[in-house]
Amino acid sequence: MDELSWEEWQSLCEMMNGYIKTQVLSTACDLGVFDAIERGATVASLSKQLEIAEHGCRVLLLGLKQLKLVSEREDGALVNAPLTRRCLLRGSAQSMVPFVHLNDKIQHRACLHFTRALREGRNAGLDEFPGDTPTLYGRMAVDPALERLFHEGMGAYTRLSPRMMAVKEFGDVSTLLDLGGGDGTNAVRLCERYPSLKVKLVDLPSVIEKARANIAAHGLADRVTCEAVDMFADPWPNGCDGVIFSHVLEIFSPDRIRFLYQKARTYLEPGGHLFVWSLMCDDDEAGGLQSVKSSLYFVTVASGEGMAYPVRNHVQWLNEAGFDTIEQYDARAIDHCALVAR
Ligand SMILES: C[S@@+](CC[C@H](N)C(=O)[O-])C[C@H]1O[C@@H](n2cnc3c(N)ncnc32)[C@H](O)[C@@H]1O
Repeated sequence: MDELSWEEWQSLCEMMNGYIKTQVLSTACDLGVFDAIERGATVASLSKQLEIAEHGCRVLLLGLKQLKLVSEREDGALVNAPLTRRCLLRGSAQSMVPFVHLNDKIQHRACLHFTRALREGRNAGLDEFPGDTPTLYGRMAVDPALERLFHEGMGAYTRLSPRMMAVKEFGDVSTLLDLGGGDGTNAVRLCERYPSLKVKLVDLPSVIEKARANIAAHGLADRVTCEAVDMFADPWPNGCDGVIFSHVLEIFSPDRIRFLYQKARTYLEPGGHLFVWSLMCDDDEAGGLQSVKSSLYFVTVASGEGMAYPVRNHVQWLNEAGFDTIEQYDARAIDHCALVAR
C-alpha cells in the first residue's frame, strides 16, 4: 500500500482536530483572554490576570498563537490580531463573543450527540437540556439563562452580516411582519435603515419580553409592536404588506416550510412581499461548512428536522405556494441567501 501523502495526512488531521480550534476559542472567550491582552499583558503576567496556573496559560497561548488570534512580541508583550480586536473583544461593536458562547454551550455541546440523533431518528442532543418539550425553543423557555445566551448569540450573529440590509425591496414595504423575530435585532436594524418602515414582530411567549425590552431600549416602541404568536398554530397579526422569515425556515422540515409559505400566501394581499434570509447550502449539496454545521445543529438539537436547504428548494416551494421569486441576493461566503418573492 502507498504511504499517506503529506496532503492526505494534513487533510485527515484537519478533520480530526477541528474541535480543538472551537475549544481554544471558546475557552479564551470564557476567560476573557482577549480583553486582558487588550488591556496590556505579557506571557508572564497573563496567568495572574486570569487567575489560572502558568502551565495552563502556556498551553492556552500555544493554541491561540496557532490560531493566529494572538502573537507575542520580542519583549514578551502579547498582541491581539486585527480580527481578534474586531470580533472577539466583549465590548466591540462587531463582537461575536456572544455567538462563540452559543456555539460552545448549545451547538457544540449538542452536536456531540449527532451519531445518536441519526441512529435514533430524533434530536438526541436535547437530552443535554432539561425538560420534555420536543424542540430546543421549548427547553429554553424554562431556562432563562440559556434563552438569554441564545438570543444574545443570535443577535450578534445576525448583526454581523450587512447583506440582508442591502435588500432594496424592503423600501417597497410599509409594515413588515417579522416571524420568529427573536430579540428584535433585525427589526431594529431595518427601522434604522428604512425610516418609514413599521414592524410587527412575533415570536414565542418567553422571547417576546426580550424583544419588547430591546425595542424600547432603541426608542422604537412606536414603530415596532411585539406579540406572542406561535407562527404555525396561531393567526398572524393583520395589516402587513410584507413578511420576513430570518434564520427561521431552515430549522424546519420541507412540509413545515411549505405550510408557512402557503400561510404567507394566504395572508398577503396580491403584490405583498415575502422575504427569506436563510442559511442555504451550495446547489450541489456539497458545502459549505457553515451550512453543514447549522444542518447538524437543526437535526441534532434545535428541532430534529431542518437543513440549510439549497436555493432551488426554496424557489420550488415558493412557486408551489403561488409566489414569484423576484430577486435573489447571494451571500455565499457565509452560506446565506436572501430571496424576495411576491
Ligand atoms: C434562530 S432564531 C432567529 C431569530 C431572528 N429572526 C434572527 O434572524 O436572528 C429562530 C426564532 O424562531 C422562533 N420560533 C421557533 N418556533 C417558533 C414558533 N412556532 N412560532 C414563533 N416563533 C418561533 C424562536 O423562538 C427564535 O426566536
